[in-house]
Amino acid sequence: MEKTIAVGCDHGGFSLKVDIISHLKSKGYTVIDCGTDSEKSVDYPVFADKVCKAVTNGEAVLGILVCGTGIGMSIAANKHAGIRAACCENTFSARMTRAHNDANVLCLGARVIGIGLALDMVDLFLDTPFMGERHTARVEMLNALDYKKDN
Ligand code: RB5
Repeated sequence: MEKTIAVGCDHGGFSLKVDIISHLKSKGYTVIDCGTDSEKSVDYPVFADKVCKAVTNGEAVLGILVCGTGIGMSIAANKHAGIRAACCENTFSARMTRAHNDANVLCLGARVIGIGLALDMVDLFLDTPFMGERHTARVEMLNALDYKKDN
C-alpha cells in the first residue's frame, strides 16, 4: 500500500493517464488503474469515485485524476469524505498542497498542461511529505467539514 497509487481519468485525460501510469511503474510504484480505458466519451464523476474509494479504503496511499481541465475531477473528488483533492497547474502548487493541505488526490488537466510539467507535478506530489505542525489543526478542520455538509 505504501507505494500504491490509484489513477483514473475520463476520455479527455486518457492519453496523459497512460503516460502517468508508465512513469509511475518505471519508478517502482504499484498502480491501481481505475479507468477509463479509451478516448470514448465517459462521465468523469464515475472515475473520480473509483479513485477516491481506493484512497479512502486504504488500497492506495494517494490518487491521481486526469480530465480535460482537472476541474471536474477535483469537484467530484472533494465531495468524498476524507478526500482532499487539489487541481494543480504548476509545480509549486503540487508541492505545497502536499506540504500544507496534506492533499491525497492530485487532479490534472490534460488540455491545460504538457506531459513534462504533468510528470514533474506527479513526482513532487508523491515525494513531498505533509509538513504537520501548524497545518495539522487546519487539515483537521477541513476533515471536520466533511460532516457538516448537511447542516
Ligand atoms: C470532457 O469534455 C471535459 O468536460 C472533462 O474532461 C473535464 O474537463 C471536466 O471538468
